Amino acid sequence: MPSTRVVVVASIFATAVLGFPSTPLKARVISEQDLYPSYDYVVVGGGTSGLTVADRLSEDSGKTVLVIERGLLDQREEAFWIPRLLGSAPPKYLYNLTSTPQQGSLNRTFGLQAGCLVGGGSAINSMFFDRGSAGDYNLWRDLGNPGWGWNDLLPYFKKSETFHPPDSVTAEKFGITYDMSVHGTSGPIQASYPPYLYPAVKNFLAAWEEFGTHIPIDGTSGDALGAFWTANTLNPDGNVRSYARTAHYDPIESRSNLHLLTAYAVTKVLFQGTTASGVEFMPVGDSRRAKVKAKREVIIAAGAPHTPQVLQLSGVGPSALLKKLHIPVVVNLPGVGHNFQDHPLFVANGILTNDLDPNPSYSTNETWLEGERATYDTNRTGFYTTSSGNAAAFIPLHELTNRMDELVAAYASQDPKLQFPTGTDSTIVAGWRAQRDALLASIRAGVVAVSEYANGPTAAMAIVLEKPLSRGSITINSTDPLANPVIDYGFYKNPVDVEIQVEAIRAWRKVLSMPSWQALGAQPTDPANNITTDEQLREWVIQVSTPTTSHPSGTASMMPKNLGGVVGPDLWVYGVSKLSVVDASIIPMIPATHIQSTVYAIAEKAADLIKARNA
Ligand SMILES: Cc1cc2nc3c(=O)[nH]c(=O)nc-3n(C[C@H](O)[C@H](O)[C@H](O)COP(=O)(O)OP(=O)(O)OC[C@H]3O[C@@H](n4cnc5c(N)ncnc54)[C@H](O)[C@@H]3O)c2cc1C
Ligand SMILES: *[C@@H]1O[C@H](CO)[C@@H](O)[C@H](O)[C@H]1NC(C)=O
Ligand SMILES: *[C@@H]1O[C@H](CO)[C@@H](O)[C@H](O)[C@H]1NC(C)=O
Ligand SMILES: *[C@@H]1O[C@H](CO)[C@@H](O)[C@H](O)[C@H]1NC(C)=O
Ligand SMILES: *[C@@H]1O[C@H](CO)[C@@H](O)[C@H](O)[C@H]1NC(C)=O
Ligand SMILES: *[C@@H]1O[C@H](CO)[C@@H](O)[C@H](O)[C@H]1NC(C)=O
Ligand SMILES: *[C@@H]1O[C@H](CO)[C@@H](O)[C@H](O)[C@H]1NC(C)=O
Repeated sequence: MPSTRVVVVASIFATAVLGFPSTPLKARVISEQDLYPSYDYVVVGGGTSGLTVADRLSEDSGKTVLVIERGLLDQREEAFWIPRLLGSAPPKYLYNLTSTPQQGSLNRTFGLQAGCLVGGGSAINSMFFDRGSAGDYNLWRDLGNPGWGWNDLLPYFKKSETFHPPDSVTAEKFGITYDMSVHGTSGPIQASYPPYLYPAVKNFLAAWEEFGTHIPIDGTSGDALGAFWTANTLNPDGNVRSYARTAHYDPIESRSNLHLLTAYAVTKVLFQGTTASGVEFMPVGDSRRAKVKAKREVIIAAGAPHTPQVLQLSGVGPSALLKKLHIPVVVNLPGVGHNFQDHPLFVANGILTNDLDPNPSYSTNETWLEGERATYDTNRTGFYTTSSGNAAAFIPLHELTNRMDELVAAYASQDPKLQFPTGTDSTIVAGWRAQRDALLASIRAGVVAVSEYANGPTAAMAIVLEKPLSRGSITINSTDPLANPVIDYGFYKNPVDVEIQVEAIRAWRKVLSMPSWQALGAQPTDPANNITTDEQLREWVIQVSTPTTSHPSGTASMMPKNLGGVVGPDLWVYGVSKLSVVDASIIPMIPATHIQSTVYAIAEKAADLIKARNA
């Protein structure tokens, strides 16, 4: 807790030091003995979406809500509130997930990061806070989900946030523009720019404009095509992380109708016939099982890696899998665990021989870092207020390459059946075909981005495939509820995905050659300029890519059941009643953006749907 840290740091710097800015630890956690036998709503998973939904549902003091979270409540360790310390969460707050060997990538295996704590991914993420383009969400709507297009979701994006615009001096100096009409001004998540920005971001943006893309006024306006500044989930009051815990739990801990049980895992949903009636759960580290009833709904928010696990353990999933594991089948739902998507990426390296000050290379200087840390501790400004950057470019295929027609035709000619192992349920194949056809129409229309270039001030860029058509799966191979599920990314299974990455390298070289980058002496280093043919570039991409930006999605997709869907637009799970899913699993097609704002918006909308049907 801050008190210990204050003593230590103050003795070094002999000056006032700011601890965690809000009131002392106040989140209240219930113990098992104090649980009610039943609640109106039982929420499985106290992560990003689970806490959001629990907050909204418990606004009605006449309804009781229980959240069961497998992980712990953080103890204000610095990793959870100092932005720059992202990625340093103690291992006890993390899952340890590893994929199967990925055939599309030399049989390598890859991790999958996920938070095992109250707040879930939002407690450990990189704080990038952007939104997809209207076309990304309109695809969801057009895949059989009325009410889930951009215009439908915008009110929920706004409801979820309080956007703090940069002050006019900063906005002027860095060329940051924004449109307050697309932002929230009273929502729980605090969004802002850190008081430490890099001047070379202006070169990044100008070079993209020279490349031929545009600079939207506000990338969160539904126009997320082109290059733009992006805010963080950063509370400007103290410049600390804003996450589901600080936004959706701490402020409401005094609500007597909301209970949070931590370090307990839900082992399965209980049914009476096909009606969800409650959940079975266990303390982590003990094999004992207990039960609690849900009078109105069981709401699954265990995150894309674990929601299919909970459903499959409960007898909701592909019947062949369930039978193999001797799990009684409640409903045969082939889509559970399928349609798994993430954003594959690689880093293309480059240097600036004539960089501006300050620039990210400073952070390799330990003396400088110590000074910046002291500045943060005393003044809450400087480098430690920054997380993963504040700009990115999202490029549609027709701007990326002049090979658009050829690449679209290559996808269009693929046989959907050949995308999956023989014996795959026909609804899953039909779902892929529907997604492919809808996506290609959006690509041709230029309304979605296919490549992201993150994140601003250097010639080295993470190049991210935003709209892969490879699909993976997440399935259990054990009835042990604490065992890791089997994660198959389906990484680069579709060769056209790799072709887009190849073109993305060519576009990166082109943008580095633009005057605004050349003014800083931009030079690509890896892949080197002598790697030029399709075949050389393909080989390079396959060797250096990873399948994940920590954006797992789609494992309980919102799509019609005959397209392999798991939930409908009301978020009810097909074939059973009183069971819904509200997390990143429901995303039918991954949007071209970092997904946390989308997850918050989904959860806000989910809460409204659930409230309305239980009014
Ligand atoms: C390292 C990292 C960096 C990221 N960076 C960014 C970024 O910069 N910008 C961005 O927009 N997005 C980012 N993301 C993605 C974003 O944070 C996630 O998409 C989002 O948090 C997912 O929310 P969720 O509610 O679906 O799942 P989660 O927030 O993961 O919540 C699921 C919760 O369920 C719990 N749970 C699981 N199984 C059980 C069970 N059986 N019983 C009880 N509880 C259970 C888990 O412990 C967890 O707390 C990042 C994610 C990670 C992991
Ligand atoms: C992951 O491993 C760490 C130890 O390295 C452990 O403390 C933690 O509990 C593990 N996570 C889970 C969810 O089991
Ligand atoms: C990957 O594994 C598969 C199945 O075991 C094998 O057929 C293939 O040759 C392997 N590929 C490489 C590049 O090692
Ligand atoms: C490292 O940072 C310190 C403090 O800012 C500075 O005095 C020093 O010159 C830097 N060293 C290098 C090698 O840049
Ligand atoms: C302290 O913060 C203020 C703004 O809050 C800023 O103007 C000032 O430059 C900061 N001081 C240092 C030493 O960074
Ligand atoms: C089940 O999957 C896990 C995770 O991929 C793996 O470690 C384990 O060996 C698998 N067990 C069986 C029996 O296949
Ligand atoms: C590219 O150039 C580097 C360094 O000059 C060399 O090591 C490498 O073999 C070359 N690669 C190709 C494919 O020509």
